[in-house]
Amino acid sequence: MDIAATLDMERAREIMTEVVDRSAAVARRYSGTVEYNGDGVMAIFGAPTALEDHAFRACLAAVAIQEEIGRLAAEVSRRDGVALRLRVGVNSGRVIAGELGPGLPRYAATGETVGFAQRMESAAPPGGVLVSEATARLVEHVVQLAQPELVCIKGSDDPVLAHRVMGICQRDAQLGRPEASLVGRRREMAALDATLERARGRLGGVVNVVGPPGIGKTRLAREVAALAAGRGVSVYWGFCESHARDVPFHAVTRLLAAASGVAGLDSRAARAAVREQSPHADQQDLLLLDDLLGIADPNAPLPQMDPEVRRRRLTELVNSRALARAEPALFIIEDAHWIDTVSESMLADFLQVIPRTASTVLITSRPEYEGALLRVADAQTIALAPLGDSQIDALLTELLGSDPSVGELEALIAERAAGNPFFVEEMVRDLVQRGVLIGERGGYSCSADAADVTVPATVQAAIAARIDRLSAPARRTLNTASVIGVRFQAELLVALGIDVALQESLDTELIDLVGSAPNAEYAFAHPLIRAVAYESQLNAARAESHRRLADAIRERAAGSEDENAALIAEHLEAARQLREAYEWHMRAGTWSANRDLAAARVSWDRARRIADAVPDDDPDHLAMRIAPRTMLCATDWQAREVQDSRHRFEELRKLCNVAGDKVSLAIGMSALATELVYAGRSREGAELASEQMELLESIGDLTRSMALVPMAFVNWLCAGEFGEILRWSQTVVDLAAGDPGKGAGFGLGSPLAIALAWRGTARWWSGHPEWRQDLSDAVAMAQRSNAETLAGAVAWTYGFAMQYGVLRATDTIVGVGEEALRVAQRATSDRAMGLSGYTLAVALLNRDSAADRDRGLELMMQTRAIWLRKRGLFLIPVTDVWAAREAARLGDRDAAIPVMRRAVDQMHTAEDLFYGAWATGVLVETILSRGTRDDLTEARAATDRLFVRWVEDGSAMRAITLLRLRALLARAHGDDVTFRDLATRYLSMAESLGFEGHTDWARALV
Ligand SMILES: Nc1ncnc2c1ncn2[C@@H]1O[C@H](COP(=O)(O)OP(=O)(O)OP(=O)(O)O)[C@@H](O)[C@H]1O
Ligand SMILES: [Mg+2]
Repeated sequence: MDIAATLDMERAREIMTEVVDRSAAVARRYSGTVEYNGDGVMAIFGAPTALEDHAFRACLAAVAIQEEIGRLAAEVSRRDGVALRLRVGVNSGRVIAGELGPGLPRYAATGETVGFAQRMESAAPPGGVLVSEATARLVEHVVQLAQPELVCIKGSDDPVLAHRVMGICQRDAQLGRPEASLVGRRREMAALDATLERARGRLGGVVNVVGPPGIGKTRLAREVAALAAGRGVSVYWGFCESHARDVPFHAVTRLLAAASGVAGLDSRAARAAVREQSPHADQQDLLLLDDLLGIADPNAPLPQMDPEVRRRRLTELVNSRALARAEPALFIIEDAHWIDTVSESMLADFLQVIPRTASTVLITSRPEYEGALLRVADAQTIALAPLGDSQIDALLTELLGSDPSVGELEALIAERAAGNPFFVEEMVRDLVQRGVLIGERGGYSCSADAADVTVPATVQAAIAARIDRLSAPARRTLNTASVIGVRFQAELLVALGIDVALQESLDTELIDLVGSAPNAEYAFAHPLIRAVAYESQLNAARAESHRRLADAIRERAAGSEDENAALIAEHLEAARQLREAYEWHMRAGTWSANRDLAAARVSWDRARRIADAVPDDDPDHLAMRIAPRTMLCATDWQAREVQDSRHRFEELRKLCNVAGDKVSLAIGMSALATELVYAGRSREGAELASEQMELLESIGDLTRSMALVPMAFVNWLCAGEFGEILRWSQTVVDLAAGDPGKGAGFGLGSPLAIALAWRGTARWWSGHPEWRQDLSDAVAMAQRSNAETLAGAVAWTYGFAMQYGVLRATDTIVGVGEEALRVAQRATSDRAMGLSGYTLAVALLNRDSAADRDRGLELMMQTRAIWLRKRGLFLIPVTDVWAAREAARLGDRDAAIPVMRRAVDQMHTAEDLFYGAWATGVLVETILSRGTRDDLTEARAATDRLFVRWVEDGSAMRAITLLRLRALLARAHGDDVTFRDLATRYLSMAESLGFEGHTDWARALV
């Protein structure tokens, strides 16, 4: 400091005194013992009282001192025009410490370690903190350190290694202040210890720590974290927060950022770090990860893909990183009761691989949480019970001391706390603040008669009383901070337009300092304190803070508003700025739509709820109600499970009719079309699909409809409306004008490929000769598109054609099926896996080799499971018939026939002509091969029933199916003449149509 040379003596001394006093005060806050030497301050941590985390405390204090002096420097610069800058150095090691002899009543330390600390200080950059290698080793998990640098120090010829402190990276809030020793919880700790040890042998584990607020979940997690860190296990924390329950990716992003070590890095450096960690990862996947972590390069466009695919690919990437990780790690997910749904589902997938890694995952939650993270197979659950009497006594003795005057009070507190340690602590703090307890922690005496002392009835009341006692500015600051969340930056509070007064709250342990320069960060000492501060405000004041916060977030996010849209919407809604909140929810929906559909749907649903509250006389009320509903309806077929969307669609229909909004109505119809076909009501679905397409056509919005057609095609297929399929596939082919990507969207990469597939199918069905070209064009085009398109194209060409005896299950087709399945598995898309798996299964079940057919059956069952999960119920009887057909083929006809019969009945009831016709054929053939008298009767009845429904439509498929079944019936009845005639006609028809499967079957008959 060169202040002495610039300023007059008096002022210089004044400033120096201020520097020393403020630094000393900060050091003491972190339990440092302070010593003055010349023009500096020395603080010792860990002596005379031993502190396990002495090095970390020293770093916290060092950083906080720089902040404090930064504030002073601003004053000095304003008043004296002088730049005040301080150096801080830290070293760790053994010291000789004690009272410095008689007549020198102070505690001091000397020795090499102290000297080296001074050298660090002189080598530190002005305004910075430099720590020695010894300190760095102790704090590297919790402090952000720069790369080691070589510094020259006095007294050593060789330069030595040192690190600059860049910040404090973990929320180890409570480490910043003295904490009572852990009481009890031995069994729990032993179990967790064992879990950590097992993980080292790559038998990772998931542990749920469950219990009511304040019971000690976080504490247990911290203890385990310390245990793990002591064994060199890296610890990563992820936090869920109450205000972020509807903010997609909130929790998972934080955990990932911590685990990838990118928190606090600028985007470029963060991207480089991510790539260094996953050198072999797919480039596209890395772009997805960048986007998730909020570190994307604005010039690198986000790969466009189906949100489900995106979610799965990210999960795979994260999982493979976890699997590839050799060193043990502990992941802590705090407060799962507040987790957002996207994070929940991603983490639930992540937990599945943990048993094969060297990692442990510890999840804390309150009892109200019952979500997916609790349902992981083989997870341990540790339910924390209240502490026992003797444990509470031990805790109280540590907090209060053993002065006889506190005895009665102790009993009162213990009784009220009912085993909840947090309640104990809060009551003690309350009594200290009220002046009932006098003295120091661990050595209090009671100033009042215990009989006159009241203690709060609940822990919330204890906290509320403590907050009430703050000065008005401190209370306002605390309340406003509670609107931000458990963690908050002082800088953001300033932006909310209040005079920031945090010191009192720090002193009374309502909050802790957890982050450091350049943006000082604080955290509520406990989530309950935040909750009480939040609840205790007047609605109007709280709303105002939310509004300002939304503005502040928006300003800060300039350029990346969309990423923060959900959060902004959340605050605006809390501020009752409903109009704006609506817009931001919609914006959040658009942003999420390509990232996670479930998240997008949450945003749309929030927007819908706001819109519904808008008064009817508002000119925008209709448009506002329509927009989010349209998006919900249009994406129903992409939802993980297709739910009952009829009700929502009916609402949409009414609204659109009133508003005359045909476009939204037409788009939204996809919801109903999906629900109808999935539920096996394709007749209604087909009508609706026709209505939908006509509407879109009349509006002239067909380009958009190109990506909506697959659901319509499936409905028409089941209803046997091949005319509609021909007409609309042709329309899409014409619209695409040869461009495979035209009209892509909703996860579909190439509407043209899909349209060709359907046109080809409709062509062979009707007997149009050019079907073959369409099928191969569709597949070839889809092979250059995405997984969804490829899977759809193979199923809707080869899958159908083999099922209907149009194509043989050749090696080529098996090869294409394998490829589509591989692509689908890589994309981990359920829909794609279902469709390509089905196709391959059909191919294999039509082969001669027993091994092929075994595998085909297995694949068919996997497909069935996928469709059950997605509630594609109309396909369940289809898979059942395939399985039964194989059972019959292996000789178990008696078991197979009832299954077929039931499936055919279901299809008949559902008026599913396409699958029903095929299944009837399988049933008839099977029962005829058994050939009892009843069987013959049943076969005839089944055939008649089919052809009553399947009225003459001039289609080749009807004609050839009829010929075949009649031939089979004639043979079974021993009517040889008729049989020969029918079989010959059957063969020649099959040959002339070029139907390979039928040709084979016919030859086998003749
Ligand atoms: N076994 C224990 N021994 C000593 N102190 C404890 C013990 N368990 C908890 N505490 C203290 O009680 C306080 C509350 O505990 P903690 O924060 O872990 O509660 P929690 O269960 O996580 O609550 P919440 O659900 O609200 O997050 C902390 O200050 C903690 O240090
Ligand atoms: Mg907790």
